[in-house]
Amino acid sequence: MTAQIISGTELAKEKRAQLAKEVEQLKSKGIEPGLAVILVGDNPASHSYVKGKQKACAEVGIRSILLTFPDTITEAALLEQIKQLNADPSIHGILVQLPLPPHIDELNVIETIAPEKDVDGFHPINIGRMMIGQKAFLPCTPYGILFMVQSLGVEIAGKHVVVVGRSNIVGKPVGQLFLREHATVTYCHSKTKDLAAMTRQADILIVAVGRANMIGADHVKEGAIVIDVGVNRLENGKLCGDVRFEEVKEVASYLTPVPKGVGPMTITMLLHNTVEAAREYGH
Ligand code: GUN
Repeated sequence: MTAQIISGTELAKEKRAQLAKEVEQLKSKGIEPGLAVILVGDNPASHSYVKGKQKACAEVGIRSILLTFPDTITEAALLEQIKQLNADPSIHGILVQLPLPPHIDELNVIETIAPEKDVDGFHPINIGRMMIGQKAFLPCTPYGILFMVQSLGVEIAGKHVVVVGRSNIVGKPVGQLFLREHATVTYCHSKTKDLAAMTRQADILIVAVGRANMIGADHVKEGAIVIDVGVNRLENGKLCGDVRFEEVKEVASYLTPVPKGVGPMTITMLLHNTVEAAREYGH
């Protein structure tokens, strides 16, 4: 079997065109969706991600502002900035780019963002609401993955979803989202015994570890849907995923590439959440 490649770029383009229309409608009612992005320090990857997010905002008509701070900023000063944005009615979404410098407690920062402006879906209140099936901002990468799989038109209920990786940002929540869709979910991680035996059971395999080329054809059942969340930079400067693309392509039914797979969907769901925030809470 040769897999169909799921283009995150194409899917993102369609969804963004729809979001641009929704932004127009909101603007006609006097609401201009606004996103505040906070960037601390000079991590090159973070700068590049933030640039991508701002460009995407401009594309759909969301106003974005960027607040940059040196990595010497104190936690108290950063929390104060967030509180000001919480109180600013022209700002509907607040995103603090992670990671933060080690002297700043990330959870304190996330918990200071008003849950109704937490468009990253990282606040424990939003995570809790997601877990119990209440309305919540869903974390963008897991939401983007679900959107991608739903776009294939395959039934998710009853499928065996195997998630490799258990980060708070991707692994844990993506399993929860598929559980909500009535999949049977298995989590694998660095202590899992015989990883390949587990992953070969997957109808839908989601790999979010951050280790280049760790998943090969011997980890994948014939006809499985494989979602590669890894973004790894090789010594030659090229990006690659956690999945050995060329090998797995011959076994899977659908496969996401890196780059141009999950990445564009993550940003698109951030735009979606920001539009929702403006619609629900904007004035
Ligand atoms: N760092 C890596 N991924 C993310 C993300 O989705 N949101 C934020 N805020 N920081 C990140």
